[in-house]
Amino acid sequence: MIASSTVISEGSVLRDEVTGARSRGLSVGFVPTMGALHAGHEALIARSAAAHDLTVVSIFVNPSQFNDPADLAAYPRSEEADIARATAAGAGICFVPDVGEIYPNGQAPTVRIRGPLTETLEGAGRGSSHFDGVCTVLSVLFSVASPDVAYFGAKDAQQLQVVRRMVADLRLPLRIEAVETVRDSDGLALSSRNERLAPADRAAALSLSRSLATVGRAILDGAMADAAAASEMGLDLLRQAGCEPEYFAAVDPESFEQDPAPGPSTLLLCAARVGEVRLIDNMTTQFAAQTGYGFDREREES
Ligand code: PAF
Repeated sequence: MIASSTVISEGSVLRDEVTGARSRGLSVGFVPTMGALHAGHEALIARSAAAHDLTVVSIFVNPSQFNDPADLAAYPRSEEADIARATAAGAGICFVPDVGEIYPNGQAPTVRIRGPLTETLEGAGRGSSHFDGVCTVLSVLFSVASPDVAYFGAKDAQQLQVVRRMVADLRLPLRIEAVETVRDSDGLALSSRNERLAPADRAAALSLSRSLATVGRAILDGAMADAAAASEMGLDLLRQAGCEPEYFAAVDPESFEQDPAPGPSTLLLCAARVGEVRLIDNMTTQFAAQTGYGFDREREES
């Protein structure tokens, strides 16, 4: 039998619950989500539940981080199933606010980080206000959930770095912990958007992880002159597989600026449209060296 969790929709009630738990000496972990939970979210919740007495999971599709109304409208919503899944994975509280609860005055004061970290890659592709929306909603959620630690997936690598920067710059009293990307056995990174992929597009979707792995190994083999060459090779591989690439980049994992001399610590990131669906993925070159994914490995094995 699965234990039940407490479902709360008001921020003030959540704050009282968490304050009560803390006054009893309990530690609190937090997993913010936009719902459509999958095994990647379960890994975050399980990690939190293993480390804390109470795990709070928020389920809120945040309108302020979508620059495309069609993308917001198409975002999968499955609240009841999400609550059941979060509870089974270890959530003690599910916070499911509506838009008016998070933005009572129509719009919250905006938290904005400027510079390449927020303005390139996802910031460029999804509009410069994307990370403003992420930072703003997380400021509200961190305030009402007041966790000791908040858990984020490494798949959204740029978001993770933006959140780390925000927490450091605003001296927010919590720690951010990253959890490794969960992948299907063939390498496809789990994403709530995967469920919108047409069956015929799944093979093309796989080319994101394959191109990252292939380029990563080429860098480590010394076959890549610089980040521009790595990007060009990645874009070509994505196009050949039938995707519409948006970017393929080799960056410094702290600044997210192009890595002048790609090597073992370089982070490779890509975004591509597969049919109607926009997907992202990333890998360090070191991880690429260890995986069995990659167009080059396929050729070696066939
Ligand atoms: O990664 C997500 O699902 C969202 O960007 C987050 C962190 C829940 C903020 O809305």
